[in-house]
Amino acid sequence: MHFGRNFAQDMNTEQCTILAIESSCDDTSMAVIKDGKILSNVVANQSIHENYGGVVPELASRAHMQNLIPVLTECLKKAHITLKDINAIACTQSPGLLGSLIVGFNFAKGLSQSLNIPIIGVHHMKAHIIAHWIDEPKPKFPFLCLTISGGHTQIVLMKDINSMTILGETIDDAAGEAYDKAAKMLQLPYPGGPLIDRYAVNGDPKKYTFSMPQIEGYNYSFSGVKTSILYFLQKEIQKDPNFIENNVADLCASIQYCINEILMKKFIKAAKENGVKHIGIAGGVSANSDIRKRIQNAADKYGWQAYIPEFQYCTDNAGMIAITGYYNYLNGQTSTLKDVPSAR
Ligand code: KG4
Ligand code: ZN
Repeated sequence: MHFGRNFAQDMNTEQCTILAIESSCDDTSMAVIKDGKILSNVVANQSIHENYGGVVPELASRAHMQNLIPVLTECLKKAHITLKDINAIACTQSPGLLGSLIVGFNFAKGLSQSLNIPIIGVHHMKAHIIAHWIDEPKPKFPFLCLTISGGHTQIVLMKDINSMTILGETIDDAAGEAYDKAAKMLQLPYPGGPLIDRYAVNGDPKKYTFSMPQIEGYNYSFSGVKTSILYFLQKEIQKDPNFIENNVADLCASIQYCINEILMKKFIKAAKENGVKHIGIAGGVSANSDIRKRIQNAADKYGWQAYIPEFQYCTDNAGMIAITGYYNYLNGQTSTLKDVPSAR
C-alpha cells in the first residue's frame, strides 16, 4: 500500500495530527492529537448492555456502527479541525471483542483510503499504559505499571517507551471482572465496579473478610474470592433475606478492600524486588478511588513517585490510542490494509 499526501514529508517528524479510534468493547471513542497534545477525546457509552447484566458482543458491534459518525463529527468539532487536517489514523487493533474491533478498524481503513493517509494499528493494553504520556509529569524509567481492566490484570515493567515486560498477570478473572461479578451478586447493574466504589465510601472495609489467594510469584487469581463472596452471601441470605439491602455499604467496602489488597500486595512486592521507584496504575479499575489512594500512599511510604491517570484516561478512551499512535507514528510503525484486528 502506498500512502501519498502528507505521509512521506511528515513521517518521523513531531508535527502531525492524528485521529484515533477505539471500539474494542462497549465504548465508541475518538480523539484528536496534534503534535503530542490531545485536542479532543469523545466517548459514547453503550447503555443497551445494562439490560443484560454484561456486554452482548453482537449488540456492541451494532451500537458502534451507529455511534461512529456522530462521535467523529463531535470529535472533529471539539478539536476545531476537519478531516483534511489529519495526517494519520490510529485505531485499536487488538485485543477486544472481534466484532467491535472489526467495525472500528474497517472504518479506520476506509478513512485512511479516502484521505490517502496511513493507518496505525494500536494494542489496547499497551495504550492503557502509554496514556501516562498524555499529561505531565511523564513517568521516568524503569516504570512499573499495574494494569487493571475488565479483561486484564498485569504487572508490566517498562525500561523505555518501547520495552514492556509482563512480570505477572491473572491466571483466571481480571480485577474489573471480579468487581463486576461481585456487584452482580449484590444485584447491582452492569458495570458494577464504579457502583461498588460509590457504596464503599460509607462502609466498613474490615466488616467481612473473604478468602485471599495463595499464588506464588507475581501472578494473580480472583476466582477464589468470587466463590468465597458467593458462598458467604448465600449463607447470610438464608438467615436474613434482606441481608444485601441492609448491608450494601459494608459489603461493597469489604469486597473493594479484599480485591485492592490482593492487587497492591503483589504490586508492591514486584516494585521492591525489581528496584523500581516509579509506579503507576492504568485501565478501568484505576478509576477506583481506593486504589488511587493506595498507590499514592505506597509511593509516599517508600519514597517512590506515583503516576495516577486523569479519570477520562482510565476507562476505555481514544485519547490513549491517540498518544500510542503518535509514538508509533514517530517510530515509523504504521500498518497496511492487509492487517486485520484480532481478539487476543
Ligand atoms: O479498561 P476498561 O474501561 O475496559 C476494558 O478494557 O476492560 O475497564 C472496565 C472495567 C470494568 O470492569 C469496570 O467495572 C471497572 O473497569 N471499573 C471500576 C471502576 N471504574 C471502572 N472498578 C472499580 N472501581 C471503579 N471506580
Ligand atoms: Zn480497556
